[in-house]
Amino acid sequence: MITAVTKSAEDTRGLGEALSRLVKPGDIVLLSGDLGAGKTTLAQGFARGLGVTDQIVSPTFVLVRLYRGRLPLIHADAYRMDNLDEVTDFDLPELLDEGGVALVEWGDVIAPTLPADYLDVAIELGEADDDRRFTIRTVGPRWAPRAAAVGAAMERWPL
Ligand SMILES: Nc1ncnc2c1ncn2[C@@H]1O[C@H](COP(=O)(O)OP(=O)(O)O)[C@@H](O)[C@H]1O
Ligand SMILES: [Mg+2]
Repeated sequence: MITAVTKSAEDTRGLGEALSRLVKPGDIVLLSGDLGAGKTTLAQGFARGLGVTDQIVSPTFVLVRLYRGRLPLIHADAYRMDNLDEVTDFDLPELLDEGGVALVEWGDVIAPTLPADYLDVAIELGEADDDRRFTIRTVGPRWAPRAAAVGAAMERWPL
C-alpha cells in the first residue's frame, strides 16, 4: 500500500502526471473518492502526461470519453451506472484491446466487474482544505512488478 498527500489541485495534477509515466497499453487505473475529492483533477494531470491536448472534463453526463495522446486515453465515470446492466454494457476490456489506457472514476463501484488487474487509487480529504490523501494499491500480476516504481514515483508527495 502506497500513500501520498497533495496540497493543491496542481499538486494532484503532478501526481497524475507521475502515474501516467508508469502505464502501458491496456492498463486500467481506478479512481475512487467522494465528489470533489480530486478524481477529475488527477485525470487532468494523467492526460497531460500522456500528451493529451484536449481539455479533460468530467465525464459525468457521458459515460466514456476518448482522448488522443501518446496512448489513447479512455476516461470513464461509473457513478451514473445505476445497475449492473449498465456496467456490463460498458465494455472496457474491448476498448482496452485497441491499446488504450483506461482511467475510471468511482472505480470501486465497477471494480467487481473488471479484470482483476488494475491500479487502485483512493482519494480522501486531508486535514487542511486543500489536502488530499492518496492510498494506492497495485492489484493483480499485471501491476505487481510495478509496485516499487509506483512507490518511488509517489515519494515526491510524502504523508
Ligand atoms: N489537493 C487537491 N487535489 C485535488 N483537487 C483539489 C485539491 N485541493 C483543492 N482541490 C479542488 O477540489 C476539487 C476537486 O474536484 P474534482 O477533481 O472534480 O473532484 P471529483 O472528480 O473527485 O469529483 C477542485 O475544485 C479542485 O480545485
Ligand atoms: Mg469527477
